[in-house]
Order: sequence, then structure tokens, then C-alpha cells
Amino acid sequence: MTTAPDRERVAQRLQRSSARNSYDPEVDIDWSAPIPADRYAKPPQRCSLYGTRMWEELTEPERIRLSQQEVVSSVSSGIWFELILMQGLVRHVYNSDPTSEHAQYALTEIADECRHSTMFGKAIAKMYGKPIGPSRVSRRAGRVFGALAGPTLIFAGALFVEELADGMQREIMRDDTLQPLSRMVSRIHVTEEARHISYAKDELVRACAGLSRFQRANLKLWLAAMAYTATQEFIHPKTYATVGLDPRVAWQVAKDNPHWQATKIQWVRKAVALFEELDLIDGPGRRLWLAAGLLER
Ligand SMILES: [Fe+2]
Ligand SMILES: [Fe+2]
Repeated sequence: MTTAPDRERVAQRLQRSSARNSYDPEVDIDWSAPIPADRYAKPPQRCSLYGTRMWEELTEPERIRLSQQEVVSSVSSGIWFELILMQGLVRHVYNSDPTSEHAQYALTEIADECRHSTMFGKAIAKMYGKPIGPSRVSRRAGRVFGALAGPTLIFAGALFVEELADGMQREIMRDDTLQPLSRMVSRIHVTEEARHISYAKDELVRACAGLSRFQRANLKLWLAAMAYTATQEFIHPKTYATVGLDPRVAWQVAKDNPHWQATKIQWVRKAVALFEELDLIDGPGRRLWLAAGLLER
């Protein structure tokens, strides 16, 4: 059996990388700097209404405000998901040998997520003053998911959400026309999440090799439900109300918007490719992936 040493080597490499390259958002972000009102928080072409008539009818300041509120909504759901992930990781460490590199890296990841959620909370306070979403139903579902989901589902779900956020945040951090706060928050998150993605991927590939048919069918369904919910929460309908739009109508316009559909597919493509390779997108769950607009039709 070569599995255990490999697992330990991966965890050791990730721990060394964490020690070399981690941020403290408390000191690495200038929280007192004002946010320029004339800069988008994410590229306009990546806003959910971009290219629609509704977008054309917004003024430039409204579009900029909407870009910021979309980021606020995405990081609000980011905190929600990080808290669920932390719960899952704590339970995973509880059942692991604390002298293993694997358990120690899980603790390192929990520490990263604690700092991320604090950073997102501060960014929300600075950008808008309060979180936007997630919905009450998803918060309730998250409570059950965080308390009960097994490590394989936790790692698969984490991988999906981390790739979705990574897709958006890589574009934000590279675009120097955007507002500095959104860019720095993205840079910190992308850097540290790259390790989480490797860890989750490695665990998922290993776990999938040993799944029974029943376990695999179960994982497919729950992963699809999780990906669907996380995607729905990525931009909460209330976001649109902040620029005077009808939340339900605007949410539907975004859902039908080909630009936004292509954006979501592009941002999750690495996760979807891995899940396809591991035979995790199939059966009844596939309909949920399609309904969430995450697969090419
Ligand atoms: Fe994070
Ligand atoms: Fe993470």
C-alpha cells in the first residue's frame, strides 16, 4: 500500500507552502483606504446582467455599484460555505491521528478559512455594510450539511466552491482597472485556496477509488444538490434590489443571460472536468447540474 505515504507527502508539501506563503488580512490590507466610487469591483463583462437590455438601462454608477454588490453577495455565500467546510474539517480531524501530516494540514486549512471569513466579513462591512444572502433555506440546509456530511462529500463540495470562487477571483486580481480592495481580497484568497484545491483534489481522487456503487450514487446526488445550491447562492436576488431593480425579474434575466451562463461554465470548468473524469456527474444528479447552468448543453 503506497497510499498513506503519498497522502503524507502531499500534506507535508502543503504545510511547507503555507508556512512560506500566507497572508494576514488584518495587516496585509489597508482597511482605512477609501473605496474609489468610479472603479468596478469585478470586470463589467463578468457581471450577471452584462449584455442584457436591463444592463444597458443602468447608469454607469449603478453598474459599478451592482458589480460591488455582486462581489458582496459572492463573499457572503463564501463565508457561509467556509463555515460549513470548517465544521466538516473539524469533524475530519476529530477522527484522524493528530500526529499525521494529513490532520495537521487540515488544521492549517481551518486556520486559513478562519482568516478568510474574517477578511470577507471586513470587506462586506467596508463595501456595503451588511451581507447579501445566503437565503434562510440554504442556511438551514448548510447547518445539516455541515453537521452530517462525510469527508468525501465535504472535499468534493469544497473543491467545487473553491474552483468557482477561484475562477472569479483570478480575473479580479489580475485586472488593474478594478478597485484595490476587491483585488487584494481576491489575491489573498486565490493564493491560499490553491493549496486547499490540491488537498481536496488529492483526497477526492483517493476516496473515489474505493467507493462502492451505492456510495458513488449517493455522492453524485449530494454533490449535485450542493453545486446547485452554492451556484444559486453565488448572487442572491437581493443584490439587484440594491440598484433599484426588481429582484425576481433581474434574477431571471441573469439566469437567461448567455454571457452569465458562459461565465459560470468557464469558472467551474476545472471542477466539472475532474468530476466527469471521476464519474461523479451522472444519473439523476446530472439534471441538477444542467438546471444550475453548469454544463454545456
Ligand atoms: Fe477560503
Ligand atoms: Fe478553502
